[in-house]
This record gives sequence, structure tokens and C-alpha cells, in this order.
Amino acid sequence: MPEGNQIVVNSPQFEVIKSMEGFVGENLSSLLKPVDESWQPTDYLPDLKQENWREQLAEFREKASELPDDVLVVLIGDMITEEALPSYQTWLNRLQGVGDITGAHSSPWAQWSRGWTAEENRHGDLLNRYLYLTGRVDMRAVETTIHHLISSGFDPQTGNDPYLGFIYTSFQERATKISHRNVGVLAAKAGENRLHKICGMIAGDEARHEKAYKLFMSKIFELDPGRAILAFAKMMKSKVVMPANLMYDGKDKNLFTKFSAVAQNIEVYTARDYAEIIDALVKEWKVAALQGLTDAASKAQEYLCGLSDRYARVAERMKFSGTEKFSWIFDREVVLGFTGKRALA
Ligand SMILES: [Fe+2]
Ligand SMILES: [Fe+2]
Repeated sequence: MPEGNQIVVNSPQFEVIKSMEGFVGENLSSLLKPVDESWQPTDYLPDLKQENWREQLAEFREKASELPDDVLVVLIGDMITEEALPSYQTWLNRLQGVGDITGAHSSPWAQWSRGWTAEENRHGDLLNRYLYLTGRVDMRAVETTIHHLISSGFDPQTGNDPYLGFIYTSFQERATKISHRNVGVLAAKAGENRLHKICGMIAGDEARHEKAYKLFMSKIFELDPGRAILAFAKMMKSKVVMPANLMYDGKDKNLFTKFSAVAQNIEVYTARDYAEIIDALVKEWKVAALQGLTDAASKAQEYLCGLSDRYARVAERMKFSGTEKFSWIFDREVVLGFTGKRALA
């Protein structure tokens, strides 16, 4: 018997994924952007080869000095999450039928996984350089956190099951889209328009990736609805683990919990967003309308259709208070005072 969520080669899931190669190939050109039409981190940073680089840098730092510490902390946590990309590519390549079997294979799934990784790689690069240039961040503490995170790894409890994998990525791409977009809104509020633009560009990529993973999963729902709905319910029951939940700066065992609390406190990514994502995915895959299901699949359907309301009720009761210190910003304290009122909307 396979262990945990392991799917063996020639399993029904593996066969479905293999049968989708043509479909993925047909959609690749709309889901990934050609390199020569893509933005690059340098496009959004001071141009240090210009004669006036000192003025550019001074202006950059002045604008960045307007960002509140709590926004800075969330931006740092988001950047660290992006920088653990090696773990995500490794994980994606382990999903049955999806993996790149040579490392440079021409199959549509392999092209997708490399193209996705290449696009994502710019996110960490850009945010890392942005934060470095602000001069407001203890970059060594941040780099130590990235080092720990990549060596600790990433286990979203999917095993190598591609259905669980694509449900996870559909969820996560939407979550990162929300998070980057909201940091951008807060940056604009602080008058930092460059960061607003940067976060908007990154959120745009996340939105395209979300569309891709939702499309793959829609096809799976069409080809294998019974197993797809069971996988969806299973993923939601085990809760969606955030990609950077093993983050550690070498000192603070509760670093991820504290980072999440600050993100929730300034409403960049909240329990309410978690509920909204479930609702969006249930609608996207038309879960309520699926028919001819087995008993187990019908139970999963009922569970999924009521789930976002349950999370929304929990979200209403969440409150944060007190202060938290972060090594990333030289142990300065961030004040928490979330009252449940949505200020960002
Ligand atoms: Fe990203
Ligand atoms: Fe992403």
C-alpha cells in the first residue's frame, strides 16, 4: 500500500494527468508569458548605472521610509515566502504525471513547471532587492530566515497526489495574489507608489497562475469528478498549510505565527480571505452542481458547500492585541490592535 497521500504510477490520477498533456499544451501560451514580453526586477528598481544614481537612491529611500513597520514586516514575510521557491519547484516535480523527468523535458507539464518557476523567481528577486535598498531591514536576519526555511522544507500534506497538489496551488496562488495586492494598497496609502506598482505586478502574475491551476483542476473535475471532489474535501479538512510555515530566524520559534498575526492585523491576509478563497473555488469547480456522486463524494459535496460560511463565522470572532518584536527590523516592536473591522475594503 502506498504511504500517506502517495499516488502510484498508473493510478487513475496519474492516467488522468497524462491524458491532459494535449490540453495543457494548447493552453500554455495563454498561461505563461513569453520571456521577451515579461517584466524583470530591474525594471522597478533605481538604475545604478546612471550618473544620478545617488539622487535616485536617496529618493527611493526617502519614499520607503514612509512605510509603517507592520507593512514592512508583512512585506518581508511575503518576500521570504517567495524566496523558498526551490522547495516549491521540488514539490511540484514530485506530483505524479506532472514531474519533469529529465530536467529539460519537452512535455507540456514539464514546460509548465519550469515556466511557472521562472516567472515566480522574479518575485523573490525583486522584493529582496527592494528591501535591501530601503536600508530599513536587518538583511542578515532575513537571509538567515530564508536559509533556515529552505533547509527545513515544505510539506503541504499532498504527498505526490496531483489532485491534492493542484487544489493546493489554486488556493495558494489566490492567497498570494490577495496578500501582494493588499500590501500594494497599503504602500499607496503611505505614498510609496513604486512599491504599489511592484506589488501590483507580482499580484498580476499570481492571478495568472491561479487561473492556470484552477483551469487544470476544472479539467480534472470534468474527467474524474468523484475523485476530484474527494481530494478537495481532503485538502480542506487537513487545512491549507501556508508555504512558509516552517520559517525560523534562528531565535524565534513563533516567527510564522507572529508574522501571520501582523498580516491579519493589517488585513493583508485574514481568516476572512481564507473563507473567501474556499467559496471562490467551490464556485469555480461548480461543486454544488455535481451529480451522480457516490455516498462518500456526496458527503464531501455537502461538507464543501457549507465550509466557507463556517470559516467566515470564525473569522468574525478573531481579535489581535499586544506587541510583537521582529529580528527582521532590528527587534523593533509592532503593535497589534485588530478589531474585526475591515479598513482596507
Ligand atoms: Fe510569487
Ligand atoms: Fe505564486
